[in-house]
Amino acid sequence: MDSLLHATVEGDEAIVLKRRAMPRYESLDETGDFLDTQGFAPARFGMILGTGFGACVRAVEKKTVVPYGSIPHFPVSTVEGHEGNLVFGALGDASVIVMQGRIHLYEGYDARQIAYPLEVMRRFGVEVLLLTNAAGGLNPRYVPGDLMAVRQHIHPIGDKLMGDLTSDTTGEPCYDASLRDSLHEFSIQKNLFVQQGILAWMPGPSFETRAEIALLKSLGADAVTMSTVPEALTARRLGMRTAAVSCISNVWTGLAGETVDPDDVVSTVESAADRCADLLTGLVGADGPNGPDHADAPDHAGGLGGPDRADGPDRSVTPGASRS
Ligand code: HPA
Repeated sequence: MDSLLHATVEGDEAIVLKRRAMPRYESLDETGDFLDTQGFAPARFGMILGTGFGACVRAVEKKTVVPYGSIPHFPVSTVEGHEGNLVFGALGDASVIVMQGRIHLYEGYDARQIAYPLEVMRRFGVEVLLLTNAAGGLNPRYVPGDLMAVRQHIHPIGDKLMGDLTSDTTGEPCYDASLRDSLHEFSIQKNLFVQQGILAWMPGPSFETRAEIALLKSLGADAVTMSTVPEALTARRLGMRTAAVSCISNVWTGLAGETVDPDDVVSTVESAADRCADLLTGLVGADGPNGPDHADAPDHAGGLGGPDRADGPDRSVTPGASRS
């Protein structure tokens, strides 16, 4: 069925544009049935490990590891720093499905293919999605190796490229405030230094020009990435609660001649992967059956402000924590 997507105004006339909603995936059963045979089972948590984050999978126990290439209909990562395995296992008491490596629009995949792994996770019952990415720091207070919990995102040119992914007009925030609160509380307990900020999405694969960096800074972005936002939009459509953590792999000062070495991006994130694994494990624990955020537990979403804390401080860090 067609869905009404957005109204734009041309002259005095409001024109309602129609686009088709995301199609159903006929192949989903085949993918799911195959993963069933490999030992995959229902899981409450899904995780996508971006560039350099692959080692976070160490925290997962009783692992079943299946390369993307052997899973029917599953898109395959083609980028360095993305292992390309789908992993099922346990983090504490909770079952998780982990993408060790992701796919990007710049690899030639379309919005529907980006959405597919999330549809597969949904087929296994995933309700909570934890996203990770490498990102370039735009906020002058950020240094390489910082972790940043995403409060909101901006995709200044994303609409055209992400197609149907941007068709959700509910206006619901993409990033769940109570998950972010849990992350914040856990980072304090563990003395982990975690920024909170606004993530911009750019299509890549080239890094941004100096003019683009200036534009993104003027829009209020704290960091920029080439991933995550399409997945967060998909997760919202699928009704998943989402948290996203960026690792600042490089910083943009805006100085002339500034360049970024992709190898440095990977190695900086790799050196932050243990801290990130701690954070993700803590979040799963906090949101799992025994955690305070479980549906049966008292709601503490009011902790740090309104639904997306749009009126809260835009840039906060874990108080008392120091960078390591
Ligand atoms: N820009 C976009 N994506 C990135 C960057 C960046 O500077 N660093 C890591 N991923």
